[in-house]
Amino acid sequence: MTSQPAIPAPRLVAIASGKGGVGKTWFAITLAHALARAGRRVLLFDGDLGLANVDIQLGLTPSRDLGSVVAGRASIAEAALRHPEGGFDILAGRSGSGTLSTLDPAVLEHILAALRQEAGRRDIVLLDLGAGLDRATRRMAAAADRLLVMATEEPTSLTDAYAVLKLYATDRAAGDARVVVNQAGSRLAGERTHATLRRACATFLGQTPPLAGVIRRDDRVRDAIRRQTLLLTRHPASAAAGDVEAVARTLWAHGRTSQDDQSTPLSPASPA
Ligand SMILES: Nc1ncnc2c1ncn2[C@@H]1O[C@H](COP(=O)(O)OP(=O)(O)OP(=O)(O)O)[C@@H](O)[C@H]1O
Ligand SMILES: [Mg+2]
Repeated sequence: MTSQPAIPAPRLVAIASGKGGVGKTWFAITLAHALARAGRRVLLFDGDLGLANVDIQLGLTPSRDLGSVVAGRASIAEAALRHPEGGFDILAGRSGSGTLSTLDPAVLEHILAALRQEAGRRDIVLLDLGAGLDRATRRMAAAADRLLVMATEEPTSLTDAYAVLKLYATDRAAGDARVVVNQAGSRLAGERTHATLRRACATFLGQTPPLAGVIRRDDRVRDAIRRQTLLLTRHPASAAAGDVEAVARTLWAHGRTSQDDQSTPLSPASPA
């Protein structure tokens, strides 16, 4: 049996959904925390600039944000804020006026290049993207090493996740998009949701995006968000916490193998 060549773990990982409110920001925060707990150096970038979600979900009041970077007053490293308990850094979105979609494309490219550089200094940079499919969101998704497309079982979410995958296939012919099913009733239900999306992609796009993970619906997620705390601190034994930790492990451990590109299930690890 030939062993599959391992490709290094992705450094720049974007999280998108199309439909709003499916859980991207909460997931991005919790994934950042899970990776930090596993000893990784993580930067979480709030790419939903008009709404600046990450700092609000965490109850933080950053003195600097992406606006400082865009204005040339700070580098990304200088504008990043360390989460006091989480052990990961956050670059907050620009609150107030302006959104990424109105950002000059050249400035956006400059930000992406700086994020890529930052990813080289750390282990991983996560991009929490806004809902919708505007130009800037699409560009950030295409610029990442891996795109995690979040969907729930709701038909509108599935349709929007499909739209994201379709545009991504246009923007990055040999890209690496994977599906995260959130708010699933059970693991099996989440796998079925993924199978539905994968079938549509196979039929219409000729692609079969693999499943990156299923996160179960869990009331403790709402509780943690309401209290502006981290789920892995407040409810470490919850189902959703375990599910996000599992995504973090595979994200970091596997990177990508050429076998994944064919979207077959991972075979048992072959001896080195
Ligand atoms: N696994 C889960 N179990 C239960 N509730 C969840 C779960 N994931 C997310 N939620 C709920 O979904 C809400 C929306 O989450 P979040 O703000 O992270 O979504 P979003 O996709 O980032 O939204 P937007 O598109 O507006 O940026 C949360 O406030 C939480 O109540
Ligand atoms: Mg959000």
